[in-house]
Amino acid sequence: MEDSRLRDLKGKEILITGGAGMIGSTIANLAVPLGAKVTILDAMLPLYGGNRFNLEEIKDDVVFIEGDVRDFELMKKVVVGKEIIFDLAAQVSYIDSITQPFLDLEINCGGHLNVLEACRLHNKEAKIIFSSSRFVYGSIEYNPVDEAHPFNCLSIYGIHKLTAEKYFAFYHRYYGIPTVIFRIANPFGPRQQMKHSRYGILNWFIKLALDGKQLTIYGEGEQIRDYIYVTDVADAMLTAAIDERLRHDVFNLGTGIGTTFKEMVRKVGFFLPNTKVVNTEWPKDSAFVETGDYISDISKLSRRLGWKPRVSLDEGVKKTISYYQKYKHKYW
Ligand SMILES: NC(=O)c1ccc[n+]([C@@H]2O[C@H](COP(=O)([O-])OP(=O)(O)OC[C@H]3O[C@@H](n4cnc5c(N)ncnc54)[C@H](O)[C@@H]3O)[C@@H](O)[C@H]2O)c1
Repeated sequence: MEDSRLRDLKGKEILITGGAGMIGSTIANLAVPLGAKVTILDAMLPLYGGNRFNLEEIKDDVVFIEGDVRDFELMKKVVVGKEIIFDLAAQVSYIDSITQPFLDLEINCGGHLNVLEACRLHNKEAKIIFSSSRFVYGSIEYNPVDEAHPFNCLSIYGIHKLTAEKYFAFYHRYYGIPTVIFRIANPFGPRQQMKHSRYGILNWFIKLALDGKQLTIYGEGEQIRDYIYVTDVADAMLTAAIDERLRHDVFNLGTGIGTTFKEMVRKVGFFLPNTKVVNTEWPKDSAFVETGDYISDISKLSRRLGWKPRVSLDEGVKKTISYYQKYKHKYW
């Protein structure tokens, strides 16, 4: 991490919605030592990754608000005076979005509309960074996937992320509010929830392996994903936040490297050698939402922001395993 690129964060007033989760807390843990003044807003809903321990090292230096982006009155107060808003709060599971579409609508659309409306009314100067997802592309037609790939959403989550993206584009075009959208690939790393497998497959495999349980691969394990370590995600978002020329854009955020499931599992097994792996048939419902292979084309992001990922998959897996070996009791 080149901290010099991020030195303009010093003194910046930052709000992170969903900031007790994996990506938000990683941003906070990077920004606070650089002198940013960080406010975290998180609803701490039990199914998602909100965990006060994620903020342990900076707990005396951040303002923590236990609150919900669906609470418009609260959001109107919280956005005042903020220069950068990382709007990350979310129902994060594409699987749950199918069984609970209205919850997904309320948080993943309504919550962001609240943030945008609150900014329109009380803080048009704030720059908002929004975490969208590779799931807006849904069924993949070609790889690597660039930002012009068609939207073949296969889940309510993908549909609502795409809808929220359009809110952010609209509020920029109509009201001039700066908004930057990231379509994140498969993030992994320290500070992710380890309670269930409904999002974050690589972390989940690490949990199973640490528990001495077998890892189950659907089919032959040839399906390709683009796994990005969480500090690289945070670094890209912070870089976009402080780039004053960047007023609005949409970027894919991954590594540009595809890894098969088989290979990902092999890497976990390399660091935890007694791990057992079994192959099984695709379950019916998973096959329905399976996107096909996915590799991000990150050339636009690299060109516009000079950003590139720094942590290799091997290094990231190793760091993630060490983190949970040390802090297992805070996440299991
Ligand atoms: N983890 C992934 O696989 C992935 C992939 C692509 C994009 N994203 C997006 O990145 C963002 C951050 O995800 P993460 O990986 O850090 O997940 P996370 O579950 O660790 O963090 C999400 C946080 O949002 C909070 N939250 C949920 N509903 C809220 C509400 N109504 N009001 C306030 N806070 C609320 C949760 O308590 C949690 O702390 C999300 O927008 C997610 O959709 C995640």
